[in-house]
Amino acid sequence: MKKLLSINPLFLTLTLVLSPSLQAEVFPTDAAIPPAAKSCVRCHEANGDTGAFTMPRISFLSKKYLLKELKDFRGKLRIEDQSLDFMLDYTLQLSDSDIDVIAAYFTSRTWDDSSYAWGPVDLIAKGKKYYENGIPEKNVDSCTDCHGDDGEGGKGPRLADQHTDYLNYQFAAFKHDTRKNSTYMTQVAKQLSEEEVNCISVYLESINTSAQVK
Ligand code: HEC
Ligand code: HEC
Repeated sequence: MKKLLSINPLFLTLTLVLSPSLQAEVFPTDAAIPPAAKSCVRCHEANGDTGAFTMPRISFLSKKYLLKELKDFRGKLRIEDQSLDFMLDYTLQLSDSDIDVIAAYFTSRTWDDSSYAWGPVDLIAKGKKYYENGIPEKNVDSCTDCHGDDGEGGKGPRLADQHTDYLNYQFAAFKHDTRKNSTYMTQVAKQLSEEEVNCISVYLESINTSAQVK
């Protein structure tokens, strides 16, 4: 985390909060990190379990999803400010075989999900309802078919344990067409209010499950 502070002090004011779970995790040694993934560790930690709330935790994502997203950043299909500022330059330098090595590395990391069950109970209850039932009056379907009963993932990526701020940011990016890699999710995001989105995100971060769909 110290490295991040010295590199980008502005980022501190926006996002930086240390995750308590990081203390408990065993970090791979430098030698265990493939050379292509070394630049990622600065922000995503060696375990892919970042403590910065607007950045995603990436260790629990499937290899398939990681491959797609890295290629989508590189192909400029994710052009929201955070992607342009933090991800584009790194992915432009990667070959397809680098991406393959990196995705295999991060998806094989373990993470500690034990300290993420928190958040205001009323928001969690509303978010759970929206997540499980959708919002029929707005023609928004349940999320479980694609993201799993507990957000563990399926056709869509794992969402359980993901940071609330990152999730809120992705809904805004889909809504404003700066994340252009899922027509379906864009439609969903355009139907939801900020308040509904926030309840869903708080609920997702609060889920405590170690299930992972690879
Ligand atoms: C300077 C900080 C920084 C560095 C270095 C960095 N990232 Fe990121 N990464 C971010 C941020 C911020 C986001 C969120 C972007 C957004 O909002 O779309 C992100 C998003 C991602 C995502 C999307 C996750 C999801 O759930 O869709 C993946 C995958 C990822 N990064 C992998 C990598 C890999 C692999 C590297 C190294 C090649 C890397 N990142 C380097 C900051 C960084
Ligand atoms: C028909 C399947 C489907 C349904 C239903 C669905 N999603 Fe998705 N969702 C996806 C797919 C596929 C992606 C990955 C898009 C991509 O390629 O980046 C995704 C991506 C996302 C992301 C971005 C995750 C990340 O790590 O960046 C969020 C957040 C999300 N969905 C939330 C929801 C919520 C909340 C609902 C219910 C209101 C929902 N989705 C319903 C298929 C679906």
